[in-house]
This record gives sequence, structure tokens and C-alpha cells, in this order.
Amino acid sequence: MKKYKIVLLSGDGIGPEISEVSKKVLKKLSKYHNFDIEIIEELFGGIAYEKYGSPAPDKTLDQCKKSDAVLLACVGDIKYDSLARELRPESGLLKLRSALNLFANIRPVKIRKSLLDSSTLKKEIVEHVDLIVVRELIGGIYFGKPRGHITDTKIPKAFNTMVYDSAEIERITEIAIKIANQRNKKICSVDKSNVLEVSQLWRDTVLNITSKDKNISLSNMYVDNAAMQLVRDPGQFDVILTSNLFGDILSDLAAMLTGSIGMLPSASLNNDGPGVFEPVHGSAPDIAGKNIANPIAMLLSASMMLKIGLNEEEAAENLETAIDKVLSKGFRTADLADGFSEVLSCSEIGDKIMDEI
Ligand code: IPM
Ligand code: MN
Repeated sequence: MKKYKIVLLSGDGIGPEISEVSKKVLKKLSKYHNFDIEIIEELFGGIAYEKYGSPAPDKTLDQCKKSDAVLLACVGDIKYDSLARELRPESGLLKLRSALNLFANIRPVKIRKSLLDSSTLKKEIVEHVDLIVVRELIGGIYFGKPRGHITDTKIPKAFNTMVYDSAEIERITEIAIKIANQRNKKICSVDKSNVLEVSQLWRDTVLNITSKDKNISLSNMYVDNAAMQLVRDPGQFDVILTSNLFGDILSDLAAMLTGSIGMLPSASLNNDGPGVFEPVHGSAPDIAGKNIANPIAMLLSASMMLKIGLNEEEAAENLETAIDKVLSKGFRTADLADGFSEVLSCSEIGDKIMDEI
């Protein structure tokens, strides 16, 4: 029997609730599909700061490095906003990404038929959406140096640096090409090269690398236009390739096409070594502890983990089908309520999904 060791980081806010559902579902899938999954839980985010004084303690990072994959719920709470930046939960997340060298963030945006009416956009606009945002994750302005505050000026000043070298752009472009080749072979690279030097290098490098693969058709778009096109005609996109900051913004925007950010999974990958699989949404402290959160983005992340991280494709498909069945029977969590469906709690929808596995 295949054996996997995964690390589960339930983090903050709604994290523990959606993790509970994910644990149960993974255990059931492992029995059904005949593999053994050891789930090691570690502290991460605000809760790790409370206990160890660091949002990404060494013990947690070491366990993650030794695992087959990491399943992460979400981190953060406004109560940590006044901490020094390096102690904040978000910094823990950046440290994890960087420690595992997770340069490629994959965010698939797929419309589930039963949720067509949940989108804030018209049905005709969203019905053909099936795109993937490929976001560079450990470079750009998130990590660029120098950065900081200047205090010896008349008024306070602060600055960050948006920087890429061509090698960083090349490796993320290779990932986008790989993904595009399994799909419609269309890449739209998003930048701001009409203003930024770093974006000009991005554009030139992407063109150089993609032109070596004759199957790929490449287009380029400025990020402001891409934001507009994503709400105007999102069906035009197949693979969107972009930098860290632009990918962060555009993926939240794209998430809403599906009806709720509570539906979007992601995978953060490296060329070897464990990946981190996590929902795109945050920790939603306003609804934490109420058992009303939507666990589906985390379950879809678990499905990506099974497929990409553990090569358990059948289990991944089983889970996706179970989720679709529950949605098409009209069960929803509060974020997706539409007046016709039956609104269930986080644990209840989890149980419904379990029943379909
Ligand atoms: C995301 C999140 C993170 C990011 C935050 C929590 C640091 O918004 O994964 O999209 O900006 O990358
Ligand atoms: Mn984000």
C-alpha cells in the first residue's frame, strides 16, 4: 500500500473548521482508494506566533520539508496587524513559500455548472470560464530588496522594489508552457511594460522562451486591461502568466467569477520537493468559529494535492465529483446561498460530501 506523509497547517480564523472537514474527507478517500495517509498537524500563522513567537517556526518548516505535500488552510487576523512585519502571519506564509522554493502558484478558475447563477456577473459572461492563473510566487515586489522605511526625511517615506532576473521569469514561463500544452495552448502574459522596466524584461523573456515552443500562442496584456478583460469577457483566457503582485490581485478578481472566493483552490509548486496546497481565500476572522465557512476551496486544494502532489488521480476525481454532486443537489454554504438552495453549515456540507465519496 502506498504511504504518504502530509503536513496539515490549519492556521487561523476559519482554518480549523475547514481543516476538520478536509481531514475527514482525506481519511475516507484513503480507505476507499487504498492508500495510507499520515496527517501531521503543525502550528502556523498567528496561532504559531502566540505559542512560539514566530508565525513560521523552524519545527513547522522542517516537517513541511520532510513531507510529501503540505495542505494549508489560511492564516491571519486583524489582531496581528500591529505586530512587527516579520512577526505577522502573512510573513510566515511568505517564509514558507520561500523556504520550500515554491516559485509557481497555480490557481485554476473553473465555473461549476450548478453555481452559474451564484456569480455576480451575468451567466452568459461566466459560463465558458475555464482559466488558470500561473503566478510567480517568490520574487517580484513581495521579496525585492531594498525595502523599508526612511525616517530621516521631513515626512515619513517607505519603499519597495519590484525586481526580477531573467532566470526567475524563465522558470515560471516554462511552467506556464507545460500547463498550456495540456490545455488550449494559449498563454496571455500580463505585465505593465508600458511603464515598468521590470515588466519589459518580463515581456521580452516570456516571448523568448515561448517562441521555442511552436505549439504555444502567446499574447501580452497590460495588467489594467487584463483586469478589465477579466470582467468583460473572461472566456477569452486560457493560461494567464503573471508576476507575484499582479497575480495576487488578478486571482482574487478571477475568483469572483465563480460566485465565491470560497470555491478557489491553489497549488504552490517547485520543480522537485513538496508543494503547498491552499485555498485562495483568507482566514475570514469575521465568521470564524461560527461553523458557516465554505470548506470547498480547501477540499478542492486537497484534490489538487492528491492529483499533483501524491499522484492519486482517482481519489482526486472522486472528491471533485462528490463536490459537484452535492452542489447540484442544491446544497450550499451561506456564501453561495441564492434563495433556492438549502443552506448548510461547514460541517454539514462536509458530511454531505463524505456521503458521496
Ligand atoms: C494570497 C494571499 C497572500 C499573498 C497574503 C496572505 C500574503 O493574499 O495567497 O493570495 O498576498 O500572496
Ligand atoms: Mn491574495
